[in-house]
Amino acid sequence: MKFHVMTLFPEMVEQGLHTSILGRAMDAGIISVNTVNIRDYSEDKHRHVDDYPYGGGAGMVMAAEPIFKCYEALTGVSSPKNASSPVKRTRVVYLTPWGKVFNQEMAKDFAKEEELIFLCGHYEGVDERVLEEIVTDYVSIGDYVLSGGELPSMVMIDAIARMVPGVLTNEESGETESFMNGLLEYPQYTRPEEWHGQKVPEVLLSGHHAKIAEWRMQRSIDRTVQYRPELMDEVELDKKSSKYYRELKKQSDPE
Ligand code: ADE
Repeated sequence: MKFHVMTLFPEMVEQGLHTSILGRAMDAGIISVNTVNIRDYSEDKHRHVDDYPYGGGAGMVMAAEPIFKCYEALTGVSSPKNASSPVKRTRVVYLTPWGKVFNQEMAKDFAKEEELIFLCGHYEGVDERVLEEIVTDYVSIGDYVLSGGELPSMVMIDAIARMVPGVLTNEESGETESFMNGLLEYPQYTRPEEWHGQKVPEVLLSGHHAKIAEWRMQRSIDRTVQYRPELMDEVELDKKSSKYYRELKKQSDPE
């Protein structure tokens, strides 16, 4: 899968993504990240990409033309809105706090694409007209405001790439799947067996796989109930786990 990132800070995106699992996937040619500097498409000799907002107000606005030129160079498409060609348009994601809030479901959906383009905004925003012309998806990574779209695009690329076949090893996918059944992850332990007076739960040392699986499921339920109770409405539990969850609810709310 190919990711393209239109940005004013290409080094930030490149450096941030070329590590760990994604770095391995890039080296193996399963994914690629191509950053493009919007400034290279500036129209003046000082390489300006922003201008004062019409109507006044603080801050600067990123101008439409350099972004559009950058998009044209990437895609070869000059009139995306009127494209009547049978070729499917590459989705363009604009990162913005007013977009749809990103989640695992969306990561899986984006991972079906062969190519994706991210547009990272800066300053007070981007001229609305170029957004209307090229953007297909408006996405936020949460209800807070960041200084630009680079970190959100990196967050999204990481989550999406993990859903691309071949990026995770079998073992790693197993772990993600267990999170994706809608529950939070169970607690993990490694050596030593006792640390700061705290022992590793006995069952994990038992070698009894069924008991370990049951214990982990119950701890996942405990954790989800404690930290993200709203997720419990969507989860499908097997018989044994439902029974455990019912008991847990009875204990905390005997009515
Ligand atoms: N740009 C600034 N803040 C953002 C956020 N929370 N999500 C996506 N893009 C952003």
